[in-house]
Parts: sequence; C-alpha cells; structure tokens
Amino acid sequence: IKCEAHMQIKKVGVIGAGQMGNGIAHVLSLGGYHVILNDIDKNTLEKASQNIKNNLERQVNSKKISTAESNAALKLIDYTVSLEDFNEVDLVIEAATENEPIKQKILNSLLPHIQPHTILTSNTSSISITRLASCTDRPEKFMGFHFMNPVPVMQLVELIKGIATDQETYDSCLQVVEKLGKTAASAEDFPAFIVNRVLMPMINEAVYALYEGVGSVEAIDTSMKLGANHPMGPLELADFIGLDTCLAIMNVLHDGLADTKYRPCPLMTKYVEAGWLGRKTKRGFYDYTGEKPIPSR
Ligand code: CAA
Repeated sequence: IKCEAHMQIKKVGVIGAGQMGNGIAHVLSLGGYHVILNDIDKNTLEKASQNIKNNLERQVNSKKISTAESNAALKLIDYTVSLEDFNEVDLVIEAATENEPIKQKILNSLLPHIQPHTILTSNTSSISITRLASCTDRPEKFMGFHFMNPVPVMQLVELIKGIATDQETYDSCLQVVEKLGKTAASAEDFPAFIVNRVLMPMINEAVYALYEGVGSVEAIDTSMKLGANHPMGPLELADFIGLDTCLAIMNVLHDGLADTKYRPCPLMTKYVEAGWLGRKTKRGFYDYTGEKPIPSR
C-alpha cells in the first residue's frame, strides 16, 4: 500500500529567474502549480517572462502542448521582487546563482516569510545539501531538487537527500516530479551528485584531449556525437552549460573528493580567466558571433 501521508503541494516559490529558474517556473506552471517567480532584478523577471512565453510557443508550434494549455500555464505564474510574497507557498525551489554564500544569504532572508510546513529545496548542481540545510531552521524539510538544462526538454530531475532530510519531504518532492511528467533519480549527498559526477569528468577529459592535441574541437565533438550517440559533443555541451560552471563543478569534485583524477584541465581554467565562458559570452570552444558556431581553435 502506497503511503499518502505526505503533503499536497499546490503553490511553489522559485528564487532566481535566470536560465534554470525560468525553465523551472515554465514546467511547474504546465504541471498545474501556482508559481511565484522571484528575482532581485526586475529586468531579469521581464526577460524571464518573455523567455517563458517564447518557449511555450515553441512547444505549441511543435504540437507538444495546446494553445489552451500554454495560456493556462501563463496565468499560473506571478512575478515578484519580494520574498514576502512566499507567505503561502508549500515548496520553495532556490535556483539563484551557483555561489554558496549567496545561497545561504537568500535562505536566511527567506525564513521569516515562509510557513512552518514549507519545504525548502535547492537546484544546486554541486553544493552540499547537508551544508545548505544546516543554515536553515528545518534541515529535515530541506533537499536538493536538480533540474537539467534546458528544463522544458530534459526528462530527468535529480532528487538529493541531505543527511537530515526526512522521507515525507522526499516523497512530497517525488510527487511533484511525477506530476511534471518527468523522471526522478535519487542521489546521495556527495560532491556533484550523479549527473555531474559522471558528466563533468567526461567534459574535462575532452578539454584535456584538446589541450594535448589528441584532436581538434571538431574532431572531438564529431567523435562523441557520431561515435557515442551523444546529442551534443562534449566541448559544444561545455559551451552550452558555461565554462565557469563546468570549472566550478570540477573544483567541487577536486576539493570534495581530494583525488587528482578530478584535476581541472589548465586550458579550461585559462578560458574562464579570459572570460571565454561559452555561448553566454559568444566565445568558448566555439565562436558564436556569426550565423553558425565555428571552432575557436
Ligand atoms: N524550451 C522549450 N523547448 C525547447 C527548448 C526550451 N528551452 N530548447 C529546445 N527546445 C525544443 C525545440 O523546440 C525542439 O522541439 P521539436 O523537436 O519539437 O522541434 C527540441 O527541443 C530540440 O531542439 P532543437 O531542434 O533546437 O535542437 P536539438 O535537436 O539539437 O536539441 C537539445 C537541443 C535538446 C539541447 C539537445 O542538443 C540536447 O539534448 N543536448 C544535451 C543537453 C544536455 O546534456 N543537458 C544537460 C546539461 S548538464 C545539466 O544541465 C546539469 C548541470 O548541473 C550542469
């Protein structure tokens, strides 16, 4: 018999309206949840609202959803710069920038505005859930809720329990994932969880292959696309994720597991130092200033 003791989640607060936050608001609203999307920056909220409209339209055009579903979803999202508007949410998904002091500061300023039953989660791709939980008043109601980019397209959500997370909290989050039509994978709270524990060393190894002259950007990406059936080559994917994010995750693995096999490739570090962060800065392993990306090396 399935236990139904866990709480019914109706209203969800999302913190951070960047690439991940707006994708999360998008899929939650399609799943029928009332969403409060928060960001400190009004312009980011306006951009997010436009992105959500555009991405829903893509799904209408490719007949994945109907116009009525898209309109209903748009009506379910409210935008706010104030965390005071989180006073009725059942679940919070924090998707602010991947910086631990900033995340802790946000969690601290959020606590006075939420109810005792509210579940807190973070979309962090690598920061310790146990450590984030410990700076809140409810470690048993805190866990990792990790979506993949692009959120409306990717099927997986990683659910990460901290050392103190209780089963009811996990079950409530699992129910949300299922209602979104996505698939959950359960990960223990160790550095970078599952997806990035496996994916980032692969990307890092591709950068080493480039650094050592084993192959060109084009040869490496073609090899993995056509030789391993990956939808994007590892260098193209690194540009898509952002080289700063890839480097930050490699450093979390290197520091957290203290094993030299996670040593970030010096070429990746150099690109980040140069500000060549991938698609978002129009230059990474490819140059994105023209009509078609061209290898920058
Ligand atoms: N919203 C809605 N729909 C979107 C979308 C978005 N943001 N982005 C793409 N789509 C849709 C497109 O409209 C298109 O739909 P149709 O097939 O119905 O026309 C479909 O997705 C495919 O897109 P494209 O045709 O533009 O391009 P593609 O076939 O090359 O697919 C891709 C793009 C889905 C991104 C694919 O290349 C891919 O799967 N890449 C790998 C992505 C990946 O590995 N993501 C994980 C990164 S790691 C991570 O996120 C974890 C972390 O912590 C760092």
